Amino acid sequence: MAQNTQLDPNQSVQDEAKTITGRKLRVGIIGTGWIAGAHMDQYKKMADVEVVAGADLIPGKAAEFFKKHGVENVKCDYPSHKEMLDDESLQLDAVSICTYNRQHAEPTIYALKKGVNVVLEKPFTVTLDEAIEVMRAEKESGKILSIGFQPRFDPNMQQVKKICESGVLGDIYYILTGGGRRRGIPTPFGTSFIEEKTAGLGALADIGCYSLDMVLNAVGYPKPLTVSGYKSDFFGKDPKYCGYKQGKGEEYAKLFGVDDFAAAFVRLEGGIILDFRIAWAMNINTPGDTIILGTKGGLRIPSTDCWNGSVGGDLTIYHEVAGVQTQTIIPMIQQPDQNFYKKMRSFLDAVRDGGKAPVPTSQILYNQAILDGIARSSDLGAEVKIEIPEI
Ligand SMILES: NC(=O)c1ccc[n+]([C@@H]2O[C@H](COP(=O)([O-])OP(=O)(O)OC[C@H]3O[C@@H](n4cnc5c(N)ncnc54)[C@H](O)[C@@H]3O)[C@@H](O)[C@H]2O)c1
Repeated sequence: MAQNTQLDPNQSVQDEAKTITGRKLRVGIIGTGWIAGAHMDQYKKMADVEVVAGADLIPGKAAEFFKKHGVENVKCDYPSHKEMLDDESLQLDAVSICTYNRQHAEPTIYALKKGVNVVLEKPFTVTLDEAIEVMRAEKESGKILSIGFQPRFDPNMQQVKKICESGVLGDIYYILTGGGRRRGIPTPFGTSFIEEKTAGLGALADIGCYSLDMVLNAVGYPKPLTVSGYKSDFFGKDPKYCGYKQGKGEEYAKLFGVDDFAAAFVRLEGGIILDFRIAWAMNINTPGDTIILGTKGGLRIPSTDCWNGSVGGDLTIYHEVAGVQTQTIIPMIQQPDQNFYKKMRSFLDAVRDGGKAPVPTSQILYNQAILDGIARSSDLGAEVKIEIPEI
Protein backbone atom coordinates (compact mmCIF):
# COMPACT_ATOMS: atom_id res chain seq x y z
CA MET A 1 0.00 0.00 0.00
CA ALA A 2 1.24 3.46 -0.78
CA GLN A 3 2.23 5.76 2.05
CA ASN A 4 -0.81 7.97 1.64
CA THR A 5 -3.26 5.35 2.92
CA GLN A 6 -1.47 5.90 6.21
CA LEU A 7 -2.94 9.40 6.46
CA ASP A 8 -4.09 9.96 9.99
CA PRO A 9 -7.90 9.77 9.91
CA ASN A 10 -8.10 12.23 12.80
CA GLN A 11 -5.96 14.84 11.11
CA SER A 12 -7.76 18.07 10.31
CA VAL A 13 -8.13 18.68 6.60
CA GLN A 14 -7.48 22.39 7.05
CA ASP A 15 -3.92 22.14 8.35
CA GLU A 16 -2.45 20.28 5.45
CA ALA A 17 -0.10 23.03 4.20
CA LYS A 18 2.97 20.91 3.66
CA THR A 19 6.11 22.46 2.33
CA ILE A 20 6.92 21.10 -1.07
CA THR A 21 9.72 21.44 -3.51
CA GLY A 22 9.69 25.20 -3.57
CA ARG A 23 6.66 25.65 -5.81
CA LYS A 24 3.02 24.72 -5.84
CA LEU A 25 1.74 21.68 -7.72
CA ARG A 26 0.07 22.81 -10.95
CA VAL A 27 -3.23 21.07 -11.56
CA GLY A 28 -5.84 21.10 -14.34
CA ILE A 29 -9.42 19.85 -14.40
CA ILE A 30 -10.83 18.07 -17.45
CA GLY A 31 -14.63 18.05 -17.47
CA THR A 32 -16.21 20.70 -15.26
CA GLY A 33 -19.53 19.07 -14.41
CA TRP A 34 -20.97 17.75 -11.15
CA ILE A 35 -18.07 15.81 -9.61
CA ALA A 36 -15.45 18.35 -10.71
CA GLY A 37 -16.94 20.57 -7.97
CA ALA A 38 -15.86 18.05 -5.32
CA HIS A 39 -12.33 17.99 -6.79
CA MET A 40 -12.19 21.79 -6.76
CA ASP A 41 -13.42 21.94 -3.15
CA GLN A 42 -10.54 19.71 -2.04
CA TYR A 43 -7.89 21.56 -4.04
CA LYS A 44 -9.00 24.79 -2.42
CA LYS A 45 -8.07 23.34 0.98
CA MET A 46 -4.51 22.58 -0.12
CA ALA A 47 -1.93 25.30 0.32
CA ASP A 48 0.56 23.53 -1.94
CA VAL A 49 -1.76 23.24 -4.95
CA GLU A 50 -2.86 25.71 -7.56
CA VAL A 51 -5.52 24.95 -10.13
CA VAL A 52 -4.22 26.61 -13.29
CA ALA A 53 -6.40 25.20 -16.08
CA GLY A 54 -9.73 23.69 -16.95
CA ALA A 55 -11.43 22.32 -20.05
CA ASP A 56 -14.94 21.33 -21.02
CA LEU A 57 -16.55 20.38 -24.32
CA ILE A 58 -19.38 22.83 -23.65
CA PRO A 59 -18.24 26.38 -24.50
CA GLY A 60 -18.17 28.66 -21.45
CA LYS A 61 -18.89 25.86 -18.94
CA ALA A 62 -15.37 25.77 -17.49
CA ALA A 63 -15.25 29.57 -17.10
CA GLU A 64 -18.61 29.50 -15.32
CA PHE A 65 -17.38 26.67 -13.09
CA PHE A 66 -14.29 28.55 -11.87
CA LYS A 67 -16.29 31.72 -11.38
CA LYS A 68 -18.77 29.83 -9.23
CA HIS A 69 -15.91 28.41 -7.18
CA GLY A 70 -14.32 31.85 -6.76
CA VAL A 71 -11.05 30.76 -8.37
CA GLU A 72 -9.25 33.33 -10.49
CA ASN A 73 -6.49 33.27 -13.10
CA VAL A 74 -7.41 29.87 -14.47
CA LYS A 75 -6.87 29.30 -18.20
CA CYS A 76 -10.06 27.62 -19.26
CA ASP A 77 -10.98 28.49 -22.83
CA TYR A 78 -9.93 25.07 -24.14
CA PRO A 79 -12.58 23.29 -26.24
CA SER A 80 -11.46 19.83 -25.04
CA HIS A 81 -8.83 18.00 -23.02
CA LYS A 82 -6.49 17.97 -26.04
CA GLU A 83 -5.93 21.70 -26.39
CA MET A 84 -5.38 22.01 -22.65
CA LEU A 85 -2.86 19.19 -22.52
CA ASP A 86 -1.13 20.51 -25.66
CA ASP A 87 -0.55 23.88 -23.95
CA GLU A 88 2.94 23.40 -22.60
CA SER A 89 2.97 26.84 -20.98
CA LEU A 90 0.72 25.38 -18.28
CA GLN A 91 3.47 23.04 -16.99
CA LEU A 92 0.90 20.73 -15.46
CA ASP A 93 1.92 18.30 -12.75
CA ALA A 94 -1.45 16.59 -12.63
CA VAL A 95 -5.00 16.57 -13.94
CA SER A 96 -8.33 15.56 -12.50
CA ILE A 97 -10.32 13.72 -15.16
CA CYS A 98 -13.97 14.31 -14.35
CA THR A 99 -15.56 13.50 -17.69
CA TYR A 100 -18.44 11.07 -18.22
CA ASN A 101 -17.54 7.38 -18.50
CA ARG A 102 -17.21 7.21 -22.29
CA GLN A 103 -14.60 9.99 -22.05
CA HIS A 104 -12.41 8.36 -19.41
CA ALA A 105 -9.98 6.41 -21.57
CA GLU A 106 -9.12 8.95 -24.28
CA PRO A 107 -8.23 11.97 -22.10
CA THR A 108 -6.36 9.72 -19.64
CA ILE A 109 -4.21 8.23 -22.38
CA TYR A 110 -3.62 11.68 -23.83
CA ALA A 111 -2.55 13.11 -20.46
CA LEU A 112 -0.23 10.21 -19.69
CA LYS A 113 1.38 10.50 -23.11
CA LYS A 114 1.97 14.18 -22.35
CA GLY A 115 3.74 13.18 -19.12
CA VAL A 116 0.99 14.41 -16.78
CA ASN A 117 -0.11 12.46 -13.68
CA VAL A 118 -3.82 11.61 -13.53
CA VAL A 119 -6.50 11.11 -10.93
CA LEU A 120 -9.36 9.59 -12.91
CA GLU A 121 -12.90 9.43 -11.61
CA LYS A 122 -14.51 6.04 -11.22
CA PRO A 123 -15.43 3.82 -13.00
CA PHE A 124 -12.00 3.11 -14.52
CA THR A 125 -13.44 2.94 -18.06
CA VAL A 126 -16.47 1.40 -19.79
CA THR A 127 -14.84 -1.65 -21.40
CA LEU A 128 -12.01 -3.94 -20.38
CA ASP A 129 -10.23 -3.22 -23.67
CA GLU A 130 -10.16 0.50 -22.85
CA ALA A 131 -8.73 -0.20 -19.38
CA ILE A 132 -5.96 -2.30 -20.92
CA GLU A 133 -5.13 0.47 -23.40
CA VAL A 134 -4.98 3.02 -20.58
CA MET A 135 -2.70 0.77 -18.53
CA ARG A 136 -0.34 0.37 -21.48
CA ALA A 137 -0.10 4.16 -21.74
CA GLU A 138 0.43 4.36 -17.98
CA LYS A 139 3.24 1.82 -18.10
CA GLU A 140 4.95 3.56 -21.00
CA SER A 141 4.67 6.98 -19.35
CA GLY A 142 5.92 6.01 -15.90
CA LYS A 143 3.40 8.52 -14.52
CA ILE A 144 0.92 8.04 -11.68
CA LEU A 145 -2.65 7.09 -12.46
CA SER A 146 -4.99 6.69 -9.49
CA ILE A 147 -8.67 5.77 -9.79
CA GLY A 148 -11.09 7.88 -7.74
CA PHE A 149 -12.52 5.45 -5.20
CA GLN A 150 -12.89 7.65 -2.08
CA PRO A 151 -14.34 4.85 0.15
CA ARG A 152 -10.82 3.38 0.25
CA PHE A 153 -10.05 6.10 2.80
CA ASP A 154 -13.04 5.42 5.02
CA PRO A 155 -12.02 3.89 8.38
CA ASN A 156 -14.98 1.48 8.37
CA MET A 157 -14.14 0.24 4.91
CA GLN A 158 -10.56 -0.21 6.10
CA GLN A 159 -11.95 -2.15 9.06
CA VAL A 160 -13.69 -4.58 6.68
CA LYS A 161 -10.34 -5.26 5.01
CA LYS A 162 -8.58 -5.66 8.35
CA ILE A 163 -11.18 -8.21 9.49
CA CYS A 164 -10.78 -10.25 6.29
CA GLU A 165 -7.00 -10.13 6.61
CA SER A 166 -6.99 -10.99 10.32
CA GLY A 167 -7.84 -14.64 9.71
CA VAL A 168 -10.91 -14.54 11.97
CA LEU A 169 -13.08 -15.60 9.02
CA GLY A 170 -10.73 -18.45 8.01
CA ASP A 171 -10.62 -19.17 4.27
CA ILE A 172 -13.13 -16.95 2.50
CA TYR A 173 -15.20 -18.84 -0.08
CA TYR A 174 -18.38 -16.82 -0.72
CA ILE A 175 -19.25 -13.11 -0.96
CA LEU A 176 -22.69 -11.65 -1.48
CA THR A 177 -22.63 -7.94 -2.24
CA GLY A 178 -24.31 -5.15 -4.09
CA GLY A 179 -26.70 -2.49 -3.10
CA GLY A 180 -29.14 -0.15 -4.63
CA ARG A 181 -32.12 2.07 -4.39
CA ARG A 182 -35.83 1.67 -4.72
CA ARG A 183 -35.92 4.68 -7.06
CA GLY A 184 -32.69 6.53 -7.79
CA ILE A 185 -31.72 6.89 -11.42
CA PRO A 186 -29.34 9.88 -11.39
CA THR A 187 -30.53 12.63 -13.72
CA PRO A 188 -29.94 15.74 -11.61
CA PHE A 189 -27.79 17.58 -14.16
CA GLY A 190 -28.96 16.11 -17.44
CA THR A 191 -28.63 12.79 -19.17
CA SER A 192 -24.91 11.98 -19.13
CA PHE A 193 -25.50 9.02 -16.76
CA ILE A 194 -28.29 7.44 -18.80
CA GLU A 195 -27.23 7.77 -22.41
CA GLU A 196 -25.22 4.99 -23.97
CA LYS A 197 -22.99 7.46 -25.85
CA THR A 198 -21.86 9.23 -22.66
CA ALA A 199 -22.26 6.65 -19.86
CA GLY A 200 -21.80 3.31 -21.66
CA LEU A 201 -22.92 1.47 -18.53
CA GLY A 202 -25.55 2.53 -15.97
CA ALA A 203 -25.97 1.30 -12.37
CA LEU A 204 -23.12 -1.13 -12.97
CA ALA A 205 -20.56 1.61 -13.60
CA ASP A 206 -22.08 4.28 -11.40
CA ILE A 207 -22.56 2.38 -8.14
CA GLY A 208 -21.76 -1.29 -8.88
CA CYS A 209 -18.03 -0.55 -9.14
CA TYR A 210 -18.07 0.69 -5.51
CA SER A 211 -19.60 -2.52 -4.14
CA LEU A 212 -17.09 -4.54 -6.08
CA ASP A 213 -14.20 -2.44 -4.82
CA MET A 214 -15.26 -2.80 -1.20
CA VAL A 215 -15.21 -6.59 -1.21
CA LEU A 216 -12.47 -7.22 -3.76
CA ASN A 217 -10.10 -4.86 -1.96
CA ALA A 218 -10.95 -6.58 1.34
CA VAL A 219 -9.92 -9.98 0.01
CA GLY A 220 -6.82 -8.85 -1.93
CA TYR A 221 -8.34 -8.29 -5.39
CA PRO A 222 -8.34 -11.86 -6.75
CA LYS A 223 -8.55 -12.19 -10.50
CA PRO A 224 -12.02 -12.88 -11.92
CA LEU A 225 -12.18 -16.05 -13.99
CA THR A 226 -15.76 -16.35 -15.29
CA VAL A 227 -18.91 -14.23 -15.14
CA SER A 228 -22.54 -15.08 -15.67
CA GLY A 229 -24.29 -11.73 -15.81
CA TYR A 230 -27.70 -10.15 -16.32
CA LYS A 231 -28.78 -6.53 -16.79
CA SER A 232 -32.10 -4.85 -17.38
CA ASP A 233 -33.61 -1.40 -18.00
CA PHE A 234 -37.29 -1.66 -17.01
CA PHE A 235 -37.32 1.55 -14.94
CA GLY A 236 -35.19 3.71 -17.22
CA LYS A 237 -37.39 2.85 -20.16
CA ASP A 238 -40.59 3.70 -18.25
CA PRO A 239 -41.81 7.20 -19.28
CA LYS A 240 -43.80 7.34 -16.03
CA TYR A 241 -40.65 7.24 -13.92
CA CYS A 242 -37.26 8.43 -15.26
CA GLY A 243 -37.51 12.17 -16.01
CA TYR A 244 -41.28 12.10 -15.41
CA LYS A 245 -41.20 14.67 -12.60
CA GLN A 246 -39.30 17.13 -14.80
CA GLY A 247 -41.90 16.60 -17.52
CA LYS A 248 -39.33 14.70 -19.59
CA GLY A 249 -40.54 11.11 -19.17
CA GLU A 250 -41.00 10.35 -22.87
CA GLU A 251 -37.70 12.04 -23.79
CA TYR A 252 -35.62 10.30 -21.08
CA ALA A 253 -37.21 6.90 -21.73
CA LYS A 254 -36.13 7.18 -25.37
CA LEU A 255 -32.63 8.33 -24.43
CA PHE A 256 -32.14 5.70 -21.74
CA GLY A 257 -29.51 3.34 -23.13
CA VAL A 258 -27.88 1.67 -20.12
CA ASP A 259 -28.68 -0.80 -17.30
CA ASP A 260 -30.72 0.19 -14.24
CA PHE A 261 -30.30 -3.24 -12.61
CA ALA A 262 -27.66 -5.93 -12.90
CA ALA A 263 -26.81 -9.22 -11.23
CA ALA A 264 -23.94 -11.66 -11.63
CA PHE A 265 -22.33 -14.83 -10.44
CA VAL A 266 -18.54 -14.48 -10.61
CA ARG A 267 -15.84 -17.07 -10.00
CA LEU A 268 -12.66 -15.56 -8.59
CA GLU A 269 -9.17 -17.02 -8.46
CA GLY A 270 -8.58 -18.85 -5.19
CA GLY A 271 -12.02 -20.48 -5.18
CA ILE A 272 -14.09 -17.49 -4.03
CA ILE A 273 -17.61 -17.06 -5.40
CA LEU A 274 -18.93 -13.53 -5.76
CA ASP A 275 -22.70 -13.10 -5.87
CA PHE A 276 -23.51 -9.55 -6.95
CA ARG A 277 -26.52 -7.34 -7.64
CA ILE A 278 -26.92 -3.63 -8.08
CA ALA A 279 -29.91 -1.37 -8.76
CA TRP A 280 -30.62 2.23 -9.58
CA ALA A 281 -34.28 1.29 -9.25
CA MET A 282 -36.21 -1.81 -8.14
CA ASN A 283 -39.45 -2.82 -6.47
CA ILE A 284 -37.91 -3.48 -3.05
CA ASN A 285 -36.25 -1.29 -0.43
CA THR A 286 -32.85 -3.01 -0.42
CA PRO A 287 -31.27 -6.07 -1.99
CA GLY A 288 -29.83 -6.86 1.45
CA ASP A 289 -26.59 -6.72 3.40
CA THR A 290 -23.17 -7.69 2.17
CA ILE A 291 -22.00 -10.98 3.65
CA ILE A 292 -18.58 -12.57 3.52
CA LEU A 293 -18.44 -16.27 4.45
CA GLY A 294 -15.31 -18.04 5.57
CA THR A 295 -14.50 -21.44 7.03
CA LYS A 296 -14.19 -20.00 10.56
CA GLY A 297 -16.51 -17.03 10.55
CA GLY A 298 -18.89 -14.84 8.62
CA LEU A 299 -19.04 -11.05 8.32
CA ARG A 300 -22.21 -9.00 7.85
CA ILE A 301 -21.91 -5.44 6.53
CA PRO A 302 -25.21 -3.53 6.67
CA SER A 303 -26.39 -2.38 3.28
CA THR A 304 -26.30 1.13 1.82
CA ASP A 305 -27.89 2.62 -1.30
CA CYS A 306 -24.44 3.12 -2.74
CA TRP A 307 -21.07 2.15 -1.28
CA ASN A 308 -19.56 5.51 -2.21
CA GLY A 309 -18.83 6.49 1.37
CA SER A 310 -19.00 4.23 4.37
CA VAL A 311 -20.81 1.11 5.60
CA GLY A 312 -24.47 1.13 6.63
CA GLY A 313 -23.93 0.39 10.34
CA ASP A 314 -22.06 -1.77 12.85
CA LEU A 315 -20.28 -4.80 11.44
CA THR A 316 -21.08 -8.25 12.85
CA ILE A 317 -18.75 -11.23 12.90
CA TYR A 318 -20.44 -14.63 13.38
CA HIS A 319 -18.03 -17.18 14.77
CA GLU A 320 -17.52 -19.86 17.42
CA VAL A 321 -15.73 -19.31 20.71
CA ALA A 322 -14.88 -22.48 22.68
CA GLY A 323 -17.55 -24.34 20.75
CA VAL A 324 -20.21 -21.69 21.30
CA GLN A 325 -21.78 -19.94 18.33
CA THR A 326 -21.45 -16.25 19.06
CA GLN A 327 -21.44 -12.80 17.47
CA THR A 328 -18.94 -9.98 17.81
CA ILE A 329 -20.11 -6.48 17.00
CA ILE A 330 -17.54 -4.12 15.53
CA PRO A 331 -19.03 -0.67 16.18
CA MET A 332 -19.11 1.74 13.30
CA ILE A 333 -16.40 4.41 13.60
CA GLN A 334 -18.13 7.77 13.58
CA GLN A 335 -16.06 10.68 12.39
CA PRO A 336 -16.32 13.55 9.90
CA ASP A 337 -16.19 12.35 6.32
CA GLN A 338 -12.75 13.18 4.93
CA ASN A 339 -12.70 10.44 2.32
CA PHE A 340 -12.81 12.65 -0.75
CA TYR A 341 -10.10 14.94 0.60
CA LYS A 342 -7.87 11.95 1.29
CA LYS A 343 -8.47 10.53 -2.16
CA MET A 344 -7.11 13.74 -3.69
CA ARG A 345 -4.40 14.40 -1.11
CA SER A 346 -2.98 10.88 -1.32
CA PHE A 347 -2.73 11.18 -5.10
CA LEU A 348 -0.94 14.53 -4.89
CA ASP A 349 1.39 13.28 -2.15
CA ALA A 350 2.38 10.45 -4.50
CA VAL A 351 2.95 12.97 -7.32
CA ARG A 352 5.03 15.23 -5.09
CA ASP A 353 7.04 12.49 -3.37
CA GLY A 354 7.39 10.08 -6.27
CA GLY A 355 5.15 7.53 -4.55
CA LYS A 356 2.77 4.95 -5.92
CA ALA A 357 -0.83 5.41 -7.02
CA PRO A 358 -3.03 5.10 -3.91
CA VAL A 359 -5.76 3.28 -5.86
CA PRO A 360 -3.77 1.47 -8.54
CA THR A 361 -5.03 0.36 -11.94
CA SER A 362 -3.51 -3.10 -11.35
CA GLN A 363 -6.38 -3.69 -8.90
CA ILE A 364 -9.18 -1.78 -10.59
CA LEU A 365 -8.50 -3.66 -13.82
CA TYR A 366 -10.24 -6.66 -12.19
CA ASN A 367 -13.17 -4.50 -11.13
CA GLN A 368 -13.50 -3.34 -14.74
CA ALA A 369 -13.14 -6.90 -16.03
CA ILE A 370 -16.18 -7.90 -13.97
CA LEU A 371 -18.31 -4.95 -15.17
CA ASP A 372 -17.30 -5.74 -18.75
CA GLY A 373 -17.93 -9.45 -18.19
CA ILE A 374 -21.44 -8.78 -16.85
CA ALA A 375 -22.31 -6.64 -19.86
CA ARG A 376 -20.91 -9.19 -22.33
CA SER A 377 -22.50 -12.16 -20.59
CA SER A 378 -25.87 -10.44 -20.43
CA ASP A 379 -25.77 -9.62 -24.15
CA LEU A 380 -24.70 -13.17 -24.97
CA GLY A 381 -27.12 -14.87 -22.59
CA ALA A 382 -24.38 -17.20 -21.34
CA GLU A 383 -21.37 -17.32 -19.02
CA VAL A 384 -18.19 -15.66 -20.32
CA LYS A 385 -14.51 -16.21 -19.52
CA ILE A 386 -12.39 -13.28 -18.42
CA GLU A 387 -9.23 -13.08 -20.44
CA ILE A 388 -6.71 -10.36 -19.73
CA PRO A 389 -3.65 -10.03 -21.97
CA GLU A 390 -0.17 -9.11 -20.77
CA ILE A 391 0.09 -5.36 -20.25
N1 LIG B 1 -16.46 9.77 -6.92
C1 LIG B 1 -17.72 10.14 -6.84
O1 LIG B 1 -18.30 10.22 -5.77
C2 LIG B 1 -18.46 10.47 -8.11
C3 LIG B 1 -19.71 11.11 -8.03
C4 LIG B 1 -20.34 11.48 -9.22
C5 LIG B 1 -19.76 11.18 -10.45
N2 LIG B 1 -18.58 10.52 -10.50
C6 LIG B 1 -17.97 10.16 -11.80
O2 LIG B 1 -17.47 11.36 -12.40
C7 LIG B 1 -17.65 11.32 -13.82
C8 LIG B 1 -18.35 12.60 -14.25
O3 LIG B 1 -19.61 12.66 -13.63
P1 LIG B 1 -20.41 14.04 -13.57
O4 LIG B 1 -21.63 13.76 -12.80
O5 LIG B 1 -19.52 15.13 -13.15
O6 LIG B 1 -20.78 14.23 -15.13
P2 LIG B 1 -21.24 15.54 -15.86
O7 LIG B 1 -21.94 15.09 -17.08
O8 LIG B 1 -21.93 16.46 -14.90
O9 LIG B 1 -19.86 16.26 -16.26
C9 LIG B 1 -18.97 15.73 -17.19
C10 LIG B 1 -18.38 16.89 -17.97
O10 LIG B 1 -17.28 16.43 -18.75
C11 LIG B 1 -17.27 17.18 -19.97
N3 LIG B 1 -16.44 16.44 -20.92
C12 LIG B 1 -16.68 15.21 -21.48
N4 LIG B 1 -15.66 14.86 -22.27
C13 LIG B 1 -14.74 15.86 -22.22
C14 LIG B 1 -13.47 16.06 -22.83
N5 LIG B 1 -12.92 15.15 -23.63
N6 LIG B 1 -12.81 17.22 -22.56
C15 LIG B 1 -13.35 18.16 -21.74
N7 LIG B 1 -14.56 18.01 -21.15
C16 LIG B 1 -15.23 16.87 -21.37
C17 LIG B 1 -18.73 17.28 -20.33
O11 LIG B 1 -18.99 18.30 -21.26
C18 LIG B 1 -19.36 17.53 -18.96
O12 LIG B 1 -19.47 18.92 -18.70
C19 LIG B 1 -18.45 10.05 -14.13
O13 LIG B 1 -17.60 9.10 -14.70
C20 LIG B 1 -18.97 9.58 -12.79
O14 LIG B 1 -19.00 8.17 -12.65
C21 LIG B 1 -17.92 10.19 -9.35
